[in-house]
Amino acid sequence: MEESGKISLELCFGTTCFVMGASKLQDIESFIPPQYKNKVDVKAHTCLDLCKNSTYMKAPFVKIDGEIISEATVEKVIQAIERKING
Ligand code: FES
Repeated sequence: MEESGKISLELCFGTTCFVMGASKLQDIESFIPPQYKNKVDVKAHTCLDLCKNSTYMKAPFVKIDGEIISEATVEKVIQAIERKING
């Protein structure tokens, strides 16, 4: 968690991630349940440098508190947020 006590959600909208599906994550904030919205700090990146590393799985990539989610979908991201908040 960040110092603010919020979960850090970092989205990548670089070319690789975007064409692999990050375009669907653009309005992720509208899918975050209202009770969690003020607990999540959303940042957009132009590349998280994960697409260049072949040991990582597949784009699109999202980081939650530094934890990498590959082949990220809205469902995966929301589930990860819920896991972080509920432990
Ligand atoms: S474009 Fe997303 S990690 Fe590089």
